[in-house]
Amino acid sequence: MKLKDRHIFVTGGADGIGAGIVLDAVEEGAKVSFCDIDVEKSTDYEKYLAAKSYPIFFHYADVADFESVANAHEASVAKFGVVTGLVNNAGVNSSADPVKMTNDEWERFFGVDLKSVWHTAKLVLPGMRAAKYGSIVNISSIHARMTYPNFFPYAAAKSGVIGLTRNLALDEGIIKFEQMLYLRVIPLRHCLKRGWTASQKSAQTPWQSNRWVGWGRVAKLQRWSPFCFLMMPLL
Ligand SMILES: NC(=O)c1ccc[n+]([C@@H]2O[C@H](COP(=O)([O-])OP(=O)(O)OC[C@H]3O[C@@H](n4cnc5c(N)ncnc54)[C@H](O)[C@@H]3O)[C@@H](O)[C@H]2O)c1
Repeated sequence: MKLKDRHIFVTGGADGIGAGIVLDAVEEGAKVSFCDIDVEKSTDYEKYLAAKSYPIFFHYADVADFESVANAHEASVAKFGVVTGLVNNAGVNSSADPVKMTNDEWERFFGVDLKSVWHTAKLVLPGMRAAKYGSIVNISSIHARMTYPNFFPYAAAKSGVIGLTRNLALDEGIIKFEQMLYLRVIPLRHCLKRGWTASQKSAQTPWQSNRWVGWGRVAKLQRWSPFCFLMMPLL
């Protein structure tokens, strides 16, 4: 029960890796709140976990919209108290032609994949500063390190996540960034496994899509260290 009595807030927790992280966190004793834009899937997942007596809370939020996330954060704090762990997981892919991509498409995509990371940090940091502890896990991607054609928005946003995390870490008192990166890849790998495993059981687990997080990708993810962590003390 490594996370007993902690309140972990997960973005995009209804599906995929986020759903795996939610499950891992409640199983480790945390009170978990999550936000997502998919209300139906989220509500099903919330009911499923609540039926197992896990302390779980869902609130709608579009992470690109600050007011929306602020509402979800406020409701989550009212339910479980100050957030001491944040996982910025919500994200979408973007494959685009640099000439054809519109300004609106760029703004929308960057709102979800990059600006959201600042939105949530802005909301949880006052509580973490007051509590004098807390952890923020920001999920980047291998595309921040090596990528393929037409993925330039995704590569740019995920590179931005790493830069933002590094710099916030300077401000908020990180303990050896690289070491944390190494240490925390291990549980994240477990989360990825859980997300993958749950996907394979989609017939029994209504919240999961059939999307596949392959082990090949996971191996590469670890190799290229796509996950960035801003740690005050550890979770
Ligand atoms: N799947 C991979 O192989 C992989 C690899 C590297 C990084 N990532 C990153 O990991 C994270 C999760 O990926 P995944 O494959 O599990 O994705 P997914 O599509 O399976 O799940 C994403 C979840 O986020 C939610 N979401 C999407 N837009 C949102 C928004 N605007 N506001 C709130 N919620 C929103 C979705 O409804 C969904 O529940 C993403 O940030 C992704 O970029 C994934």
